[in-house]
Amino acid sequence: MTCGLYPGLLLLLLLLLLLPHLHSSVKTCPPMCLCVSDTTSCSSSGLSKLPLSLPTFSVTLDLSHNHFSWLGPGNFNKMPRLENLRMAHNQIITLTNGVFRNASGLRHIDLSSNKLRVVEHHYFQGLWRLEELLLFNNKITQVEANILSGLSSLKKVYFSLNQITHFPFFAIQDHSHPFLTMLDLSSNRMTSLPWEDVKALPRLVQRGLYLHNNSLICDCTMYSMFWHWDLRGYDTIKHFTAEHICTITGEPQGSIQFLQYNRFFHNCTVEKVVSQPVTVLLSSVFVSQGESIHLDCQTSLNSTDLSFTWLSPSRGYITLTSTNDTLISLFPNGTLEIQATKVNDSGLYVCTAVDVKQELNATREVNVTVHLPTTEIFNTGYTTLLGCMVTTILILMYLYLTPCRCSCCKQPGPPAIPIAAYDPSTLSSVFCSSSREQAVIQANKHVAFMEPMAGEEGT
Ligand SMILES: *[C@@H]1O[C@H](CO)[C@@H](O)[C@H](O)[C@H]1NC(C)=O
Ligand SMILES: *[C@@H]1O[C@H](CO)[C@@H](O)[C@H](O)[C@H]1NC(C)=O
Ligand SMILES: *[C@@H]1O[C@H](CO)[C@@H](O)[C@H](O)[C@H]1NC(C)=O
Ligand SMILES: *[C@@H]1O[C@H](CO)[C@@H](O)[C@H](O)[C@H]1NC(C)=O
Ligand SMILES: *[C@@H]1O[C@H](CO)[C@@H](O)[C@H](O)[C@H]1NC(C)=O
Ligand SMILES: *[C@@H]1O[C@H](CO)[C@@H](O)[C@H](O)[C@H]1NC(C)=O
Ligand SMILES: *[C@@H]1O[C@H](CO)[C@@H](O)[C@H](O)[C@H]1NC(C)=O
Ligand SMILES: *[C@@H]1O[C@H](CO)[C@@H](O)[C@H](O)[C@H]1NC(C)=O
Repeated sequence: MTCGLYPGLLLLLLLLLLLPHLHSSVKTCPPMCLCVSDTTSCSSSGLSKLPLSLPTFSVTLDLSHNHFSWLGPGNFNKMPRLENLRMAHNQIITLTNGVFRNASGLRHIDLSSNKLRVVEHHYFQGLWRLEELLLFNNKITQVEANILSGLSSLKKVYFSLNQITHFPFFAIQDHSHPFLTMLDLSSNRMTSLPWEDVKALPRLVQRGLYLHNNSLICDCTMYSMFWHWDLRGYDTIKHFTAEHICTITGEPQGSIQFLQYNRFFHNCTVEKVVSQPVTVLLSSVFVSQGESIHLDCQTSLNSTDLSFTWLSPSRGYITLTSTNDTLISLFPNGTLEIQATKVNDSGLYVCTAVDVKQELNATREVNVTVHLPTTEIFNTGYTTLLGCMVTTILILMYLYLTPCRCSCCKQPGPPAIPIAAYDPSTLSSVFCSSSREQAVIQANKHVAFMEPMAGEEGT
C-alpha cells in the first residue's frame, strides 16, 4: 500500500518544482503583489514605480495606497486585457503623454485622492471604452476643454472635492456622450456657470449633474435653473437640498441655502412661472423588444385645446405634423405609439403639452427600457422544464413506492386498475401544458405603466 504511493508523491513533487518555471514563461507575480485569476493587487505595497513585470492577462490592476507621483508613457501597454485601473490614494501630480497608449480597453479609472492639478486634454485620449472616471479629492484647478472628447462610452465622471472654477460644459452635446448619467462637480469653486451651455446639456446629464457646495453667486438665472431641476424631482437636488448654497455679494454679505430660504429670489421672473401649474410626472416603462408601446401625455393641463411635442432619445422631436415615420405615431390626444420597439428605442421620452391660449406648459417624462426577450423566455422555458421534471419524478415516486406499502397488507393479486389510469406520461404532459400556457400568458403580459414616481405642482 505505502509502496504504491511513492511514485504518485514523486510526481507531485516534480510538478511542484516545475510549476514556477512553467509560470515564469507567462509573467511572474511581483513579490509585493497578490495575483489571483484576472486580478493583480499591489495596494499598500510602498511602491513608487511600476513593477517591471506584471501579469499580462490581468483585467484589474490595483495600485491604490502607494507612493506613485507620476505615470510614464506606455506604462500599461503590456496588459492588453486591462479594464480596471485603481490608483486612488497616491501622490500623482501629472500624467505624461501616452500613459494609456495601447491600453484602450480601460473601462474604469480611479485616480481619486491624488495630487492632480490640471486635467490636460491628452490624459484620457483614445479611451473610447472608458465608462467611469474617478478624479475626486485631487487639487484640480483647471480642466482643459476637450478632455471628454471621444470618450463616448462615459457613464459616470467624478470631479468632486477639487478647486475647479470653470468646466467645459459645451463639450457635452446631444449625441456626444449618450450614456453619461452622472457628472459630479460638487464641492468645487465655481462662482458662476455658463448657464446657456448648462441648459443645453442633454436631459440625462442635467438629471445627474451635481453642483452643490460650490461658491455660486446668487442670481436669478442660477436660481431658475435649480428651481426647475428641483421641480422635476431630480435626486441631485433632493438629496442635497441643504448643501445648495449661494453667496450674496451685495450689502449684507453672506451665504444662503437658496433652495430652502428663497426670499431673496422673490423678484426673479422664475416666481412668475411658479404660479403656473407646471407639472412634471416621472414614470418608467419596461417592454420586450418587438412589443408596441403607448406613452400617454396626461399632465395637469386639462384643456381640450392642447398641442403636444415629444422629444425622443433616438428620433429627436416628434410633433403632429412632423411624423413621417410609419413605426411611430402621435395621436391628437398626445399619446405616442411606437410599434415594434427596438432595444435602441430605450431612453428618456419627454412630452410637453402646451396650452397656447393660457400660455401654460406641462411636461411628462417617461423612462422607457426595451430589453431583449430571448433571455426571459428562455428562463421561463427552463423553469417550466424543471417543474415538469420534478413533477414527473414525484409522480413516479408516488406510483412505484405506494404499491410497496400495499404489499405489506398482504393483498396479492393483479395490479390495481387505478395504476393504469395514472399513466405518468399523460399526467405530466397535462401538467406541463398547463404551465406552458401560464408562461405564454406571462410573456404576453401587457405593458404596465408604473405609478408616477414624483409629481410636483407649483404653488
Ligand atoms: C501599440 O500601439 C501602436 C499604435 O498606437 C502599435 O503600433 C503597436 O504595435 C502597439 N504595441 C503593442 C505592444 O500592442
Ligand atoms: C464643501 O466643500 C469643501 C471644500 O470645497 C469641503 O471641505 C467640505 O467638506 C464640503 N462640504 C460638504 C458638505 O460636502
Ligand atoms: C424686490 O423689488 C422691490 C421693489 O422693486 C424692492 O423694494 C426689493 O428690495 C427687491 N428685493 C430684492 C431682494 O431685491
Ligand atoms: C415624408 O412624407 C412625404 C409625403 O408625406 C414624402 O414625400 C417623403 O418622401 C417622406 N419622407 C420620408 C423620409 O419618409
Ligand atoms: C389617445 O388616442 C389613441 C387613439 O385614438 C388611443 O388609443 C389612446 O388610448 C388615447 N389615449 C388617451 C390617454 O386617451
Ligand atoms: C438601432 O437599431 C437599428 C436596427 O436594429 C440600427 O439600424 C441602428 O443603427 C441602431 N441605432 C443605434 C444608434 O444603435
Ligand atoms: C412652453 O413651450 C413652448 C414651446 O415648447 C416654449 O416656446 C415656451 O417657452 C414654453 N413656455 C414656458 C413657460 O415654459
Ligand atoms: C431608466 O431605467 C433604466 C432601467 O431601469 C435605468 O437604468 C435608468 O437609470 C433609468 N433612467 C433614468 C433617467 O431614470
